[in-house]
Amino acid sequence: MGMLAAPGLAGVIVGHTAVSTVEESGDGLFYRGYDVAELARETSFEEVAHLLIYHELPRAERLAQYHMQLTGQRGLPDPLKSILEQLPRDAHPMDVVRTAVSALGCIEPETSGREVQSIAARLLAILPSMLLYWHHFHGRGVRIQTDTEAPDIASHFLCLLHGRLPQELSRKTVDASLILYAEHEFNASTFNARVTTSTLSDVYSALTSAIGTLRGPLHGGANEAAMELLAEFSSPDEAEREIMRCLRGKRLIMGFGHRVYKRRDPRSDIIKDYARRLAEANGRQDLFAISERIEHVMRREKGLFPNLDFYSASAYHLCGIPTSLFTPLFVVSRMSGWIAHIMEQRRDNKLIRPLAEYRGPPPRPVMPLRERSP
Ligand code: COA
Repeated sequence: MGMLAAPGLAGVIVGHTAVSTVEESGDGLFYRGYDVAELARETSFEEVAHLLIYHELPRAERLAQYHMQLTGQRGLPDPLKSILEQLPRDAHPMDVVRTAVSALGCIEPETSGREVQSIAARLLAILPSMLLYWHHFHGRGVRIQTDTEAPDIASHFLCLLHGRLPQELSRKTVDASLILYAEHEFNASTFNARVTTSTLSDVYSALTSAIGTLRGPLHGGANEAAMELLAEFSSPDEAEREIMRCLRGKRLIMGFGHRVYKRRDPRSDIIKDYARRLAEANGRQDLFAISERIEHVMRREKGLFPNLDFYSASAYHLCGIPTSLFTPLFVVSRMSGWIAHIMEQRRDNKLIRPLAEYRGPPPRPVMPLRERSP
């Protein structure tokens, strides 16, 4: 019999990876050896997706080719459009993305000979199209054209959302957030993708499992929950009073704390800087002041720090992104990390099937139906 692991597998090393690592001190995050802070400063999301999926940062010529591959695949197949049109208008966009990815797995299945990298490119290109086609069809009754002129994924998303190319600060904010969200070692959704992959299932099944896992508020859904919280307050003082009340009631404050980081989330300061700049540009210093006060109270009262989701919430909000689209945008980004892990799992596969310590009733006879006590 094996040893009983810690609850939630906290602190347990369950495999190895070359995709990314959290620095031992918990202060840094590295994608294939590159510091994510440097990647956010020096590169684009497309370069990072290439790094994760193809193992190296692309040279200029390769990057141009990769961009062409991505921009050329933004169109939706007709059967997918009709599926999106039939989904309820009040469905959660994460349910829409999960269903759309699953549907694409029927329309463009992973057949032998079809490389995972080419499926990845198709998905990176088409995810914003799927989501915003559904969004506009149900919100305004309009069937949008999803082939935009936008040069990259961040501006494609914003262009489909707002019907025009974005301002540079919004584009750069979304691009940086896509870099920061792209990969995070054996987080819950990635681990789930690897479990599904380990059964030799197809790539779409692994991704659908991952999207379902990311949806929860303890994982990707925290950015939406953080925005809903922020929207309740009209001043820093009110925010402090309410946060204190929540903490007394033992309520979790979404966007704070982390399973792996114990002192700070190295990604938070980067997105916080974008949130500050957007607040200044939009005259919304009030929102930034409320966020900073909550950060201050959480540190003072619980020793907790904001994770990536907390300032992503106000940054996305100030880019004009509706709250319900925050976690789906996370999917666009994390798709690159999931694909890297799916390929890594396949290269050195072993079925993931742990054991459980049984705590149920001891063996007992099955009574015939009429003799069972009520
Ligand atoms: N708000 C209030 N208290 C929090 C908290 C939060 N966001 N995060 C952790 N804590 C408290 C816990 O209640 C616990 O207190 P206790 O020891 O008095 O019971 C203590 O800090 C340790 O937290 P724990 O739940 O054991 O840590 P974990 O490693 O299991 O959980 C998270 C990590 C991320 C699930 C947790 O911090 C959380 O739920 N955060 C909010 C959701 C979130 O932002 N998720 C996105 C992660 S990127």
